[in-house]
Amino acid sequence: MKRGVDTIKWKSNRVWLLDQTQLPFSKRYIVCSDYLRVARAIKTMEIRGAPAIGIAGAMGLALGALKIKTTVQDRFLRELRSIGKKLIATRPTAHNLEWAVNRLLVIADKNRTKPVKTIKNMLTREAVAVLKEDIAMNRKIGDYGASLIKKGSNVLTHCNAGALATGGYGTALGVIRSAWKQKKIKKVFVDETRPRLQGAMLTAFELVEERIPAVLISDNMAGSLMHRKAIDAVVVGADRIASNGDAANKIGTYPLAVLANYHGVPFYVAAPGSTIDPSIKTGKNIVIEERDKKEMLEVRGKRIAPEGIGVINPAFDVTPHELITAIITEKGIIKNPDKNRMKKVLR
Ligand code: MRU
Repeated sequence: MKRGVDTIKWKSNRVWLLDQTQLPFSKRYIVCSDYLRVARAIKTMEIRGAPAIGIAGAMGLALGALKIKTTVQDRFLRELRSIGKKLIATRPTAHNLEWAVNRLLVIADKNRTKPVKTIKNMLTREAVAVLKEDIAMNRKIGDYGASLIKKGSNVLTHCNAGALATGGYGTALGVIRSAWKQKKIKKVFVDETRPRLQGAMLTAFELVEERIPAVLISDNMAGSLMHRKAIDAVVVGADRIASNGDAANKIGTYPLAVLANYHGVPFYVAAPGSTIDPSIKTGKNIVIEERDKKEMLEVRGKRIAPEGIGVINPAFDVTPHELITAIITEKGIIKNPDKNRMKKVLR
């Protein structure tokens, strides 16, 4: 993001999170001095987006570690693991969260014979490294992805996969940023992304700040735009990718992929390796978070539907790999992803 606004940072042994529930109207930081506050921020989506919650999980664990009182290594590790479990439990779909927390737990485990103070310092350093590496990966994703975008393209994106959803720069929005710098983008269509409106509140905010021409559309407009040949490519992020390339992303992504397929529009998924879950074979194994019904029944605190109506609120859907033109990662592009081609990034 521009103008020195970080999504998440580690400063003076505190985790600073830009409160995404207040954007685009105010840029307010939540300063977390304990891991429970970080966990609450992830759960309530004050911070959101798979890579960003991964970084928050890592920093939350490092913060939790600093507060553990014991100097006995085994006890320290037990307490640390229990904090890790609580952080991972905040949101079930994004792989980045458990990936990042487990990365820190492995460091602690490997260094279990060292003094607790040393392990704590290592965890802080590692959490900051998770953030830095994420930004570097996004820049690579941006460069690879831009090579797929044709000059003069109108691109559609869904939800927010920008600087706010990551350590910085963004995955899908990173591709758009890089392609814009290469003068390939004419316009970006932004799905508003019901029910939490990440497109309207966050992606629109980032694109306006960056002065990239962007048009906000409601989630049900994409089909007619594709029919009118107004969209040249769809680029989205992902929350968890199975080892065969099936990709979970914000609810509403799958119908976009179906529409893109029908209209012959390329459909790209941009995500770092930390989103790919090698332990699951297909998208059928991805746990889809079901969120509070209120998100459907209310718009910014105001009730919009009658009492007594039934509601479902799955936060994500899964796009089968057959509908994905390419997955763009920091390691390269996987065209027509399937379980064999995915091995390139699973190594
Ligand atoms: O519920 P959210 O806002 O955390 O969902 C975010 C998304 O689905 C993003 O598209 C995904 O995490 C990719 S972020 C680079």
